[in-house]
Amino acid sequence: MSHHPSHLTAAVPRRAVVTGAAGFIGSHLAHALVQAGAVVIGVDRRGPATDPTAAANLSVLQGLPGYMHVTADLLSCAIEPLLVEANAVFHLAGIPGVRPSWGPKFSEYVASNVLATHRVMEATSRMGVPRLVVASSSSVYGPTDGGASIETDRPQPASPYAVTKLAEEQLCLAHSTQAHCPTSVVALRYFTVYGPRQRQDMFTHRALTAALTGRPLRLYGDGHQRRDFTYVDDAVIATVAAATIPTASGVINVGGGSSASLLEVINIANSLSGREIQVHQENPRSGDVLTTRANPGRAHEVLAWRPQIDLHTGMRAHMQALATGSAAYGHSA
Ligand code: NAD
Ligand code: UGA
Repeated sequence: MSHHPSHLTAAVPRRAVVTGAAGFIGSHLAHALVQAGAVVIGVDRRGPATDPTAAANLSVLQGLPGYMHVTADLLSCAIEPLLVEANAVFHLAGIPGVRPSWGPKFSEYVASNVLATHRVMEATSRMGVPRLVVASSSSVYGPTDGGASIETDRPQPASPYAVTKLAEEQLCLAHSTQAHCPTSVVALRYFTVYGPRQRQDMFTHRALTAALTGRPLRLYGDGHQRRDFTYVDDAVIATVAAATIPTASGVINVGGGSSASLLEVINIANSLSGREIQVHQENPRSGDVLTTRANPGRAHEVLAWRPQIDLHTGMRAHMQALATGSAAYGHSA
């Protein structure tokens, strides 16, 4: 299976800016856009020269004439010059973890997820870019009864991280409702994305790494928590569609492919590796919800998008990337 959606069928913006391009989802998105013929400026405060994860994530883009990387902090850099003639801005930069958002790190979440977003939104609007796609999160829904979350549900964020993601999307949407704002905003609520180059703090990466190395896996809680696991190529296809499809501003769930518990993820990792993961159970962590599940209707209706990759297929590709240890797929340590 290919590790990037080279088969993007929707139109792509001619010229795009991807913030957070040195990150997990951003690097896949930038690569897919360039492969499909777009010119992409990637902006990230991590750069390949100084940050090994950024270098690994960006290595697929290295040398591609359609890609330029700008190492800059969106809290302070001049954003407008980067947006000249851009047809779309994809704003994926942010601090992503749920559990570390309690305590002193919260100010970093506010800085990157809210204050930097405010700067990106203002610059995008001032430069007359017609579309901003912003990365929101399934975590804005908070605890549910296990049923599917629909975009019109009242958000009940259960972690400081989720509060900042809700602020981020609503801030952009508030700007877009201003009469003079030339930018329409599509906020994508991604549901637990996995695949090659996934962040090392995330569960699928850790389960597959435990299966490959024999090192123990720390399980927070009993493993019955469920996620609507979304393969990164699927997330990228939805994200590109969100930039080009004519639609009013709003939020859209990008989730699914497989609803599964953590115990099922462990079982798949076991069967793919032929090795039994050693599980160390710990207490559940604050801010985690028991279940996320996307109502997929609006994504289908607006983006003509349905996830294609089931968890077993996606985890096989993710594991292969880790096993080959290719720099292109990040570090497995
Ligand atoms: P990631 O950490 O791999 O990528 C985020 C990137 O943003 C990093 O490279 C980081 O250096 C950059 N960044 C942070 N603050 C910045 C700033 N002030 N200026 C410039 N760059 C900055 O995370 P990811 O998993 O790829 O997530 C991307 C986005 O999607 C995030 O906004 C996250 O909240 C959101 N999201 C991710 C998931 C998921 O499952 N991975 C699910 C829902 C939402
Ligand atoms: C993920 C992303 O990390 C967030 O950036 C994103 O906003 C969120 O999805 C989303 O859908 O919006 P999360 O669902 O917490 O957040 O994903 P993981 O970090 O992979 O954790 C999944 C579950 O595994 C959680 O219950 C967590 O407590 C558990 N876990 C994680 C462990 O048991 N052990 C670990 O070592 C790591």
